Amino acid sequence: MTLTTKSVARVALVSTLVAAAAGAAVLVASPASGAASTLAAAAQQSGRYFGTAVAANKLSDSTYVGILNREFDMVTAENEMKMDATEPNQGQFSYGNADRIVNQARSQGKRVRGHALAWHSQQPGWMQRMEGSALRQAMLNHVTQVASYYRGKIYAWDVVNEAFADGSSGGRRDSNLQRTGNDWIEAAFRAARAADPGAKLCYNDYNTDNWSHAKTQGVYRMVQDFKSRGVPIDCVGFQAHFNSGNPVPSNYHTTLQNFANLGVDVQITELDIEGSGSSQAEQFKGVTQACLAVARCTGITVWGIRDSDSWRASGTPLLFDRNGNKKAAYNAVLDALNAGGTTTVPTTPTDPTTDPQNPESCTATYSEGEKWSDRFNGQVTVSGTDNWVVTVTVGSPQRIIATWNTSPTWETANVMTARPNGNGNTFGFTIQHGGNWNWPSISCRVA
Ligand code: XIL
Repeated sequence: MTLTTKSVARVALVSTLVAAAAGAAVLVASPASGAASTLAAAAQQSGRYFGTAVAANKLSDSTYVGILNREFDMVTAENEMKMDATEPNQGQFSYGNADRIVNQARSQGKRVRGHALAWHSQQPGWMQRMEGSALRQAMLNHVTQVASYYRGKIYAWDVVNEAFADGSSGGRRDSNLQRTGNDWIEAAFRAARAADPGAKLCYNDYNTDNWSHAKTQGVYRMVQDFKSRGVPIDCVGFQAHFNSGNPVPSNYHTTLQNFANLGVDVQITELDIEGSGSSQAEQFKGVTQACLAVARCTGITVWGIRDSDSWRASGTPLLFDRNGNKKAAYNAVLDALNAGGTTTVPTTPTDPTTDPQNPESCTATYSEGEKWSDRFNGQVTVSGTDNWVVTVTVGSPQRIIATWNTSPTWETANVMTARPNGNGNTFGFTIQHGGNWNWPSISCRVA
């Protein structure tokens, strides 16, 4: 009666299969029990979010806010958290419009993606005129100040936006920030982690959707390098601004999966697709399905609500028309979300010795706990049985340095076996991460 499980989402349900022998992990559709009627509710069925960009000056538009509150559970400020908005004069920070968006979102129980801490574009004038070490210092101060101000309120920060060049080079884009030294990106990530250890830290870019493009490969190599050297990066954002000249690539799923395989979450962060009718709807469906097919694709954000709200309004690239009516593209996305996502669970043949009327099962759910610069807490909740054995495996150079509500035994330095010790079916631990912020793998079986 063994089964192997693996956590796949922020709070990941890892297995509900019963009375079985361990088998190979496969991707299966998560249950879509009854169709949800909003984008957020439909995405939540597979543990994902569905978000939108929000503009502060539209929060007085009741049609806009009505759709926002009904359909979305993640919010990105369209412009209000950018460097020119938050530090208009050097050392003088301004959060009024950003706060209006953050407070509106949080009051409605929505989460917030922070966008963006460091970018060559939309810099305040004083920063545009800076170069060299003074600019490096000013950039790091900006990252520290803004991420600290919003500490605890941001699900994920786009720490660095659009740092790679278009075209065939696969290298960095020239900018005043790039000219401060190639390590400016990792310096920004380290500053962001120190300022808000609880936020996921993303690199965000466009034209990184097609796996065979040089820019995609360049970003991939950077993320691979960051992971290998312990630079704190948790996620990669794919802006996903599509049109007829830059259509959704047929290998999109491959791109998302390959990045996820580096040990980062992937997110679609600014989705819009110019067009109309069924052809637009088909493309939105394809992007949604690509995310759903990748266990670590944690959510999708569209870059505005109605076509008329879009930065590319003439291309009618969004899910609602200018009157706030749902378009064919909306229905395509909703249906795709309702069809369910994939998550990693084991295949397990049935054990004939188990009573089929009363089978015991082992379901282990990992959830993140508090984070500090050098360590983080995790918690596992087991259901389906009181007689569980859970194996927790941490990656190198992580070490489990404390546990509670279980009396562990150790298979090796990085593999811990936990059993109930009279404190119920939830136990926890502290991992000293040594720069590796990945979650442990969790497997669970009935004893
Ligand atoms: C756009 C906004 O939508 C516009 O209102 C603004 O004038 C320019 O920026 N990539 C990004 C976003 O990361 O911040 C951009 O947003 C769109 C492209």
